[in-house]
Amino acid sequence: APDISLTAVRAHLDELSAIAARNGGNRRSTTQGYRDSVAYVKGKLQAAGYTVTEQPCTSGCTSGAGPNLIAEWPKGDANSVYMFGAHLDGVSAGPGMNDNGSGSAALLENALTLARENPDMRNRVRFAWWTDEEQGLNGSYFYVRTLPSAERARIKAYYNFDMVASLNGGYFINHITSAAAAPMKAYWDSLGLRPEENTEGAGRSDDYSFERYSIPTSGYAMGASARKTSAQASKWGGTSGSAYDPCYHRACDTLTNINTTGLDRAADGIAYTLWQQAVGTGGGGG
Ligand code: PHE
Ligand code: ZN
Ligand code: ZN
Ligand code: ZN
Repeated sequence: APDISLTAVRAHLDELSAIAARNGGNRRSTTQGYRDSVAYVKGKLQAAGYTVTEQPCTSGCTSGAGPNLIAEWPKGDANSVYMFGAHLDGVSAGPGMNDNGSGSAALLENALTLARENPDMRNRVRFAWWTDEEQGLNGSYFYVRTLPSAERARIKAYYNFDMVASLNGGYFINHITSAAAAPMKAYWDSLGLRPEENTEGAGRSDDYSFERYSIPTSGYAMGASARKTSAQASKWGGTSGSAYDPCYHRACDTLTNINTTGLDRAADGIAYTLWQQAVGTGGGGG
């Protein structure tokens, strides 16, 4: 798998920060800051050759919420789809750089890298940037709920990225012992990170929308308002007894609230997982 450029990921974050700054300081799903975030990601994907769909969330979302953004890479077995997603909306308190500019930017650079490398594909890859996560996982739930059941059955796994650059973070994987998580875990294991189960995040981000329909899910996270234990500080560094993200849902979730080492490790692990699951020739497997 390729190394994902941290510089490029950070450039996407810079853009999301600038978007918040010129739209009252936030990117909440119902605001121009959110719609401008959608336009930025969409423009980059289209320039790379993706056909991108804006999906309006017509039920279950907050009134006035902007759309989900869906982009599928048009190669590989369409009956075997691996989805990768991140919520693109933020809370009204701040610009939402770790939550969830981090996941959004890491995912975007993965999509752009896949298009640039253009490898032979065994399976299908679909990316999603979700709306209205912060009001109840609403955009992702709308997407899964309204998919025809035959389409739902084609999704072999969904990988979620929500808060992958927490300043005092840890290395957490959803459903860490599952088959879907194996490549995510293998990559972080290869870096010696000794990842743990994402207990804090269980049922609290967009992977849960897929879980409700029995689609296998995994993902990376570095933690929110829960506090780092002394055992975790011993193995990962950082401050025990303090929150993984000191600026969770606060105005200070700015560009200075980003753990660039963690961000790079997440971005690269997404690429590793995507390549393991979908890149190559021949049918099945992975
Ligand atoms: N889903 C939460 C949010 O976007 C983030 C979160 C993830 C919180 C995991 C706790 C655990 O705010
Ligand atoms: Zn990298
Ligand atoms: Zn949040
Ligand atoms: Zn979040």
